[in-house]
Formats: sequence, structure tokens, C-alpha cells
Amino acid sequence: MKYDLRDKAVVLTGGSRGIGRAVAWELAKEGARIGIAARDGEKLADTARAVSEHGSSCVLLPCDVAHDGQVRSMVDRAAEALGGIDVFMNIAGVTLEKPLEEATPDDYRRVMETNLLGTVRCTCAALPHLKQSRGLLVNIASIIVRTPFPYLGVYACSKWAVAAFSATLRQELYGTGVRVLTVFPTVVSTDMKDLEPVLANSPAQSPQQCARAIVQAIRRGKVETDTAILPKFLSAAYCLAPGLGDMITRLFLPREYRIRKGGAYG
Ligand SMILES: NC(=O)c1ccc[n+]([C@@H]2O[C@H](COP(=O)([O-])OP(=O)(O)OC[C@H]3O[C@@H](n4cnc5c(N)ncnc54)[C@H](OP(=O)(O)O)[C@@H]3O)[C@@H](O)[C@H]2O)c1
Repeated sequence: MKYDLRDKAVVLTGGSRGIGRAVAWELAKEGARIGIAARDGEKLADTARAVSEHGSSCVLLPCDVAHDGQVRSMVDRAAEALGGIDVFMNIAGVTLEKPLEEATPDDYRRVMETNLLGTVRCTCAALPHLKQSRGLLVNIASIIVRTPFPYLGVYACSKWAVAAFSATLRQELYGTGVRVLTVFPTVVSTDMKDLEPVLANSPAQSPQQCARAIVQAIRRGKVETDTAILPKFLSAAYCLAPGLGDMITRLFLPREYRIRKGGAYG
């Protein structure tokens, strides 16, 4: 199924930087009308300035996806300003690099609050609009769902949960006209990667390459998309033989991360 983004009302979270910012730029090239949400209003304005290079304007939607009330009002404002919502994209996310033995329940709560519950909140608020437009929901999972990387376990739990939410919702919305797409980005050079030294040796996409793969997935209506060969390859190796998958993944780890001798990375 082909989906034409021209003149479509697209709202995305995570629009202040990284992948979300690059997606906004690509959407502008496609002629979409865009709403961008994130907490940092100044960086949202920077994204809007970049998007204006394509002669498009963005509706700025300052919002913390960890807050129910802010999400509801963000979605209402977006629908009002854009005259409805055709596509809603859950891109906002946070990460945490920490051995699971040391992660606290508060670490899980903080990451889940944004990655899983932020996605759930935004989705539930956007669904009435998407049902009206028979539109698309796009959820961003991660390569981490395709194969486990050590020290990113809390983040991995949140992204597995996003993938499960997305896949189940796709089944539940069957027949409503709303389609749910899940994207599994490979490692991407953004602030997030900088926070994860364990990924320092992994081949990375630029945010623009990742954004182009995401927008192409929307145009093709592809249910699940890996943005590069690496997650496809790791996923195949892991499905075939998880032990082999572990071994291949370890090849990408910086030396100091391959064998943990004592305390954190000790
Ligand atoms: N980079 C990678 O290697 C990689 C790989 C696979 C998947 N991903 C996923 O891709 C998505 C984007 O990641 P990225 O690399 O672009 O990260 P990034 O550069 O750190 O950007 C994260 C974005 O999420 C927003 N955000 C974070 N917490 C938020 C909150 N509570 N409320 C609203 N917005 C919030 C940030 O905006 P504010 O700080 O202004 O709120 C920012 O716009 C994430 O879901 C991430 O898990 C990334």
C-alpha cells in the first residue's frame, strides 16, 4: 500500500533534535504539514527554522510526554492547528547505560515513563483523531529489540515493551482503518549514541539516513522496518541461534566492555 504524505497532518514527538528533527525535515520535503513536540521549546524552534528551508512551517508543541495532562493538551492543540491528525509518530525517547545488576527500580521507572508510557499516552490521545482520518501510527523501537546489547538492559526492556505494544495494537485496530507501523532504527549518531559508550564501535547511520528510511517505511506502509542491514543481520543470527547472536554482538563492543570482571565494567 502506498501512502502519499503531501498535505497530510503529521505530528511527531522527539522533534527537538536527533532522529525526530531529521524526520521533520524529510516530511517537509514530502509536503506534509507538521507538528513537533518535545520539552525544549528553543530547540523545537531550531527544528522549525530548518524545516522552513523547504517552505514549510511547523506547529510547535512544547510537551513532556511523561505527563498525562500535557500530552492530552498537546494532541488537542495539534489537531486544532492542523485540522486533524493523519499520522502520529512516537519518536521521543531516553536511554540509560548501566549494568542490570546495578539498575534500580527508579531507573526502570524513569526510562519506562518516557519510552513506554509516553508512547502509550500519546497513542491513546491521538487514536480518536487517527480513527477519524483512517491514519497511521508510527512507533519507534530499536535495534536493541533485534539483539541484546549488554549494559543497555533497562532501555532494552522499554523498547521491547514498545514493540509489543505496537504489534498488539496493530492486531486490535484491524478493521478500524488505522494502521500501526513499528520502526527498528539501527545505531544512529545522535546525542543518544553519545550517551552510550558501549555502542562506540558499532557502525552508525546519520540521523538523515535513518529519517529517510522511516519516511520510506511510511510511504510504503511497511508494518515493520529495520532502518539498516545491521539490525536485520543481527536479528537473523539471533533467531537462528541466540548464542551465535550474542557472540556476533560482542564483536561490536569496545574491548573494555567484552568481559566484565568485577564491578561496573571493572
Ligand atoms: N540514536 C540511536 O542510536 C537510536 C537507535 C535506535 C532507536 N532510537 C530511538 O529513536 C528515538 C530518537 O532518538 P534520538 O537518537 O534522536 O535521541 P536524542 O537525540 O536524544 O533525542 C531524543 C528526543 O526525545 C525527546 N524527549 C526525551 N524525553 C522526552 C519527554 N519526556 N517528553 C518529550 N520529549 C522527550 C527529546 O526532546 P527534549 O529533550 O527537548 O524533550 C529529543 O527530541 C528514541 O525513541 C530512541 O530510543 C535511537
